[in-house]
Amino acid sequence: MKVLITAGPTREAIDPVRFLSNRSSGRMGYALAHAFIKKDHHVLLISGPTQLDIPDRVDFIPVESAQEMFDAVSHSIQHFDVAIFCAAVADYAPDHVATQKIKKSADSITLVLTKTPDILGSARTVFQFNGYLVGFAAETENLESNAREKLTRKNCDMIIANDVSRSDIGFDSHENEVLIIEASENTRLPVDTKEHLAHHLVELIHQRVLQSKKEQP
Ligand code: C5P
Repeated sequence: MKVLITAGPTREAIDPVRFLSNRSSGRMGYALAHAFIKKDHHVLLISGPTQLDIPDRVDFIPVESAQEMFDAVSHSIQHFDVAIFCAAVADYAPDHVATQKIKKSADSITLVLTKTPDILGSARTVFQFNGYLVGFAAETENLESNAREKLTRKNCDMIIANDVSRSDIGFDSHENEVLIIEASENTRLPVDTKEHLAHHLVELIHQRVLQSKKEQP
């Protein structure tokens, strides 16, 4: 299969030396990239800045901002069977990027933020992607209902949900516990390393893609 994966955080510039970002390490997306490669699938990894090594044998596009990630996905997604949106994309970015470093003079300053493009939300509508679509949901409350709502609203085949209110799993951690939401079932995978979870997810996604191909006339 040809698999596109987004991973890592995005950085939204404030001025030439400052940005808004989040604590995503990129580990889950990179673990998925490794796991698909190990099974001889073709992987394009579109990644925000991380501390991780680029996995061998993946095609790699480095990006910084949500807009750059949107453009890279928009450019390539049509050529893929599976798209997995693992990136922790900033929801808002500064309206205006100062061309010079902002000086410390005023006692307070105001940043006006504007919504970034929803990349996953654009997959079916703007990019017309009709392959197998997987989103991630990082929630601090009502994990299952929020993730199921996302499955429908963003027209995904699968949402992989994790509880980011816990410090032992998820964001910036080596382990994760995920709840897999599909149209007709939920599956809970117990706490495990992101590498083991990735292998399990690769098997499941591969099975689902084969099933959906059989069901198509
Ligand atoms: O709506 P929310 O940000 O919680 O959705 C999470 C899912 O949507 C993740 O799969 C994330 O990669 C994706 N996403 C995106 N573009 C955004 C925001 C989120 O692709 N601007």
